[in-house]
Amino acid sequence: MLQTDSHIKSNILQIQEALRTLRFGRAIQYFDEIPSTNTAAMQWATEGADEGSVVVADFQTAGRGRHGRSWIAQPARNLLFSTVLRPTIPVSDWGLITIIAGLAVSEAIEDFISPLTTRIKWPNDILIQGKKCCGMLLESVLTPQGSSMTGPAILGIGINVNEDTFDTDIAERTTSILLESGQHVPRLALLGSVLNRFEVYYDQLLRLDHAPLINAYTNKMAYINEKTTLRFTGKSEVIEGIIEGISPKGALCFKSDSGTQTFHSGEVTTQLIP
Ligand code: BTN
Repeated sequence: MLQTDSHIKSNILQIQEALRTLRFGRAIQYFDEIPSTNTAAMQWATEGADEGSVVVADFQTAGRGRHGRSWIAQPARNLLFSTVLRPTIPVSDWGLITIIAGLAVSEAIEDFISPLTTRIKWPNDILIQGKKCCGMLLESVLTPQGSSMTGPAILGIGINVNEDTFDTDIAERTTSILLESGQHVPRLALLGSVLNRFEVYYDQLLRLDHAPLINAYTNKMAYINEKTTLRFTGKSEVIEGIIEGISPKGALCFKSDSGTQTFHSGEVTTQLIP
């Protein structure tokens, strides 16, 4: 495991030697500065990059978040990367990719923050002590293939690692590994741990061995069985209810006065009722 991370670029070969993966992280492109690792990875994918190829950047000038938001992270302190996926499972199961990514990152972060633990706010925000330290964005360009759709998908992950301040407007709900654990974490060692875990879960997903993944995820879910509000994307309407878990496709199971309904990622956001 690497002990320092001041020069991500010069340590990439070392991290590749330490990987236990067959595909993930075997090809890595590094950038000091780039608009978005998701955009670069999509470009690389369209040029033929293999599944598991990774783009890492020290800084993004146009990092993208979910729901059209931007993702801002200071240079040289955080982990910003995207990996190329070429999923062979039906597109209707792709919601499970973000589920396993949440699991992999949540466990990888726990390698560095013991005795603290992480929770996953559906679908894949990683929380430490109730605050978000990581977000993920799955993007794809689908084209028809026979009666179904196919195409590469890009999984982008942003982890607040050694950030020591956040603007006051977000500091209440945003954090970093350093702020919560007091530990400076070597970013490439964390990247290696994420890739090692992700490949194991991804292979399980491709084998259609879904039940253990759903169980492991449910055990790590934030707000489970607690009173929560559900807000529909782009609308002010909220409903109150209880998060019961996730469906076999990774959708949120939410029980309100209207009974239990499932919601897909992108449709809704959840918020704990204090
Ligand atoms: C979120 O809104 O929670 C998702 C944030 C995803 C950010 C990561 S940083 C690396 C990759 N490149 C991007 O432009 N976005 C993702």
